[in-house]
Amino acid sequence: MASERDVRAGLRRAEQDHLLRFWAELAPGSRAALLGELASLEPDALREHCRGAAAACALPPGPLPDLAARLRPLPPERVGSAIRCDPETRRRWEEEGFRQIALNKVAVLLLAGGQGTRLGVTYPKGMYQVGLPSQKTLYQLQAERIRRVEELAGTRHGTLCSVPWYIMTSEFTLEPTAKFFKEHNFFHLDPTNVVLFEQRMVPAVTFEGKAILERKDKVAMAPDGNGGLYRALADHQILEDMEHRGVEFVHVYCVDNILVRLADPVFIGFCVLQGADCGAKVVEKAYPEEPVGVVCQVDGVPQVVEYSEISPEMAGLRGANGSLLYNAGNICNHFFTRGFLEMVTREFEPLLKPHVAVKKVPFVDEEGNLVKPLRPNGIKMEKFVFDVFQFAKNFVAFEVHREEEFAPLKNADTATRDNPSTTRRALLAQHYRWALQAGARFLEMHGAQLPELPGLPANGDPPAICEISPLVSYSGEGLEAYLQGRELQSPFILDEEQARLLQPQEN
Ligand code: UD1
Repeated sequence: MASERDVRAGLRRAEQDHLLRFWAELAPGSRAALLGELASLEPDALREHCRGAAAACALPPGPLPDLAARLRPLPPERVGSAIRCDPETRRRWEEEGFRQIALNKVAVLLLAGGQGTRLGVTYPKGMYQVGLPSQKTLYQLQAERIRRVEELAGTRHGTLCSVPWYIMTSEFTLEPTAKFFKEHNFFHLDPTNVVLFEQRMVPAVTFEGKAILERKDKVAMAPDGNGGLYRALADHQILEDMEHRGVEFVHVYCVDNILVRLADPVFIGFCVLQGADCGAKVVEKAYPEEPVGVVCQVDGVPQVVEYSEISPEMAGLRGANGSLLYNAGNICNHFFTRGFLEMVTREFEPLLKPHVAVKKVPFVDEEGNLVKPLRPNGIKMEKFVFDVFQFAKNFVAFEVHREEEFAPLKNADTATRDNPSTTRRALLAQHYRWALQAGARFLEMHGAQLPELPGLPANGDPPAICEISPLVSYSGEGLEAYLQGRELQSPFILDEEQARLLQPQEN
């Protein structure tokens, strides 16, 4: 264990001596814990971190400087579309994606180190259930989509294949996530294909550049942003693990999108056939202030400009056709080749500039009292996962239907958007559409038929409750066999057992 003397010397070099100001009062256990925490902070890096935070915070708040002159939409040749392509092209992309999955070359990587502050739960967001009839959590839906996409690829190519699931957690989410997966028997995935690893934490800092104590014996630490991925990949030899398994392509995604298509064969196939090393799925922005980053170019280089860093005027600009000029909304679904990730972790990670978030950080005051500030008092520095796009040799964006692929859970039900009710509705409306497309009709209690697609209210509850297990259908495929010509009543749950009952009998 590090000695008190060494730690004191390190803190002096980092200009952070105040972190030991309650030392004399601490019991031996608390002293050991604090020493351990402080010893893990490298003095020079700590000094730069604290100075950098204060300097970045001293810059005028708001949009990035000169953005108006530097920003451009992505050129059309960099953008593919699942919406505007012809069916044959889409089939080719999907076929290629399935082929790569069947060859065991595709992995998914979940960014799950965030604290879910806006949703207001104390446990990891993936453990949240939005009130579906099945009561499935986000993690369960994701696990089942992995199982289904493996099965679809395996059936097409006559192989047994697997899509390893890498899950980046943080100090806040690692333990509960690991426990949750064990308690749920890894949702029947092979546990050796579920790899949890932890991102680093960095101190929260005052506006004067001093690391904050949240207790007399504990520094206020926060995860280093979802761009902490690249250091975490290196810290835990994740790319070596991928190489060992033969993984070449990685689908990175964030935890809160209830409609996320894990290892989406269409997206993977598109990126692979384009020869891309890096890609991002996008949806058309719903309204100018929507809190999604914009995939665009800055100084001719592909980049995401985050919603907090673009001015309302820029966000509201419209093109000749009347739609938003910067309308490629980032849904935090990224494609990377393993080679690209290797290059980033080896060469470019230190060049990623942290972004400043000014937050309310609980702290102990000079007298040692715990204070919960009413106004923001601290700086959290976060790297962003998409800041590596600038290093890509062949970056592509891929546009998909929002109603099929994006319904994020960000807020509690007290907010009007992106809350448990809106995400639940988005999934149930999708499944209702899939059932109708497969030839089912829904009847109300007295036998009258419920509205078809055009009658569906936007953002409202679908006329009937229909939930389809991802184990039965990944993206709406294969449902005719169970539903063609059926008259169904709400609520209708199509799980594996129901599917067996509805399966046409073979002679
Ligand atoms: C994110 C995107 C935004 C996009 C939006 C779509 C980033 C930086 N921003 O915004 O451009 O339009 O999603 O929904 O990607 N996470 C970690 N470690 C951390 C912090 C976050 O793993 O230290 C994870 C979260 O658990 C989550 C994901 O990163 O899965 C996104 O984080 P969140 O804070 O929800 O991002 P948004 O601000 O919603």
